[in-house]
Amino acid sequence: MNIPQQGLSKEEILNTLQAFKARDMDWRAGKVWCYVYNPGEDPAEVTREAYLSFLSENGLDPTVFPSLLKLETEVVRATINLLRGDSNAVGHLTTGGTESIMLAVKTARDKARAEHPEITQPEMVLPKTAHAAFHKAAHYLSVKPVVVDIDPQTFKVRAEAMQAAITPDTILLVASAPSYSQGVIDPIGEIGKLAREKNLLFHVDACVGGLHLSFMRKLGYDVPDFDFTVRGVTSISTDLHKYGYAAKGCSAIMYRSKELRKYQIFACTDTTGYTLINPTMLSSKTGGPMAGAWAILNFLGEDGYKRIVRDVQEATRKLIDGINGLDDLQVLGEPAMCMFSFKSDTINVYQLADEMSKRGWYIQGQFSTPLTPRNLHLSVSQGTVQTVDALLDDLRECVGIVKSKPAIDSNAIRAMVAASLQGPDPEAAFSQLAANTGLAGTELPTEMALINEVLDALPDELCNVFLVNYFNDLYV
Ligand SMILES: Cc1ncc(COP(=O)(O)O)c(C=O)c1O
Repeated sequence: MNIPQQGLSKEEILNTLQAFKARDMDWRAGKVWCYVYNPGEDPAEVTREAYLSFLSENGLDPTVFPSLLKLETEVVRATINLLRGDSNAVGHLTTGGTESIMLAVKTARDKARAEHPEITQPEMVLPKTAHAAFHKAAHYLSVKPVVVDIDPQTFKVRAEAMQAAITPDTILLVASAPSYSQGVIDPIGEIGKLAREKNLLFHVDACVGGLHLSFMRKLGYDVPDFDFTVRGVTSISTDLHKYGYAAKGCSAIMYRSKELRKYQIFACTDTTGYTLINPTMLSSKTGGPMAGAWAILNFLGEDGYKRIVRDVQEATRKLIDGINGLDDLQVLGEPAMCMFSFKSDTINVYQLADEMSKRGWYIQGQFSTPLTPRNLHLSVSQGTVQTVDALLDDLRECVGIVKSKPAIDSNAIRAMVAASLQGPDPEAAFSQLAANTGLAGTELPTEMALINEVLDALPDELCNVFLVNYFNDLYV
């Protein structure tokens, strides 16, 4: 678009924006099983109003906006208390799990730079199930990711495998509570012990679990210690904008002490401009997410969260039993909370996701790895509990539909992918592959099964290049 010569009316603008959403998946109807955490109408309205009331305030400078200092420190303190940190624990609010994780890695890197200048290529040890944000952090911050295999039955990393990966250049250990892919909690206690023995920093990614698991514990569910009560844990990330049901743009990065947190903060007076002190990645930032998070914590209260967590856990149980009750689908591992994945040995799960999509459901496909089969992921939340029965009914019917259709020939696709990578010009081969697959240009694909099949067949490094090329073309 070009900026119009004369501005449009508020009505025209809002109607047009609304029309842009025509092809979006219907999360309000509880049909999107990831990405959106809907607390229900009343809490969402309170959050929205709180968010908008701080839209223009700037988190860049707490001396000008002490309100934001108060909001941030109160939300962080409430989260630390839930994660059983003591009064020495501190933290900050960030824009999301990725930023929190990147800051945890930066803190570890800069502490190592200060205390171990002999380490020229710092390394962090992470399970294969760790979120991609750690790889992004590694990429941005020049820290080498040392990836450790998981147990293919439990999908948890073994502490001994973490230990074996430690070298004199290790600066950080990482584990998840829980991991996104299969929703299981790594052995945090054992890895914490290892971290103490080796005098290493240990970050727990509780982006999805920090709040939900803590309320499960308070409700009496059997939840292993994963928080600051584990003595070796030195930092934790917990997203308010996931199972805290806050508006997006809010996560907490927390450290056991200020001594450690100081490596996160960046200050710069070496310019002609204003003094810059940034504890997080952004400089100018809206106060909206902080106010939104403060509002929802106070609106729901402990009782509200406990009610949600109980409902979500009951829905999860029903869903897991229902899926395992279908002959063709099996839930992977023993999920610790309300996120899990399921596989099939008889049908192509990507085709199943496409069939479900025709009925308005969004279910995320996850690729296979040497230790995990291809699978579909579900994150149950307050906004989806009411559609569990409908989802199970449609899953049952769609499995039948997929079985009655010709299956995608995975072997033929693998052969096609392998052949196309043999040629002398890899870029041309990629373009051809993208065109054959339907993942090219600026049109969004309507069916994903074939695309996922091809992506699953590509080696990881090539798959990443393929996807980078795709996005490079998609956003014109
Ligand atoms: C375990 C885990 N860590 C980190 C992240 C990244 O969070 P965000 O998408 O808020 O950056 C996610 C996102 O789903 C996650 O599941």
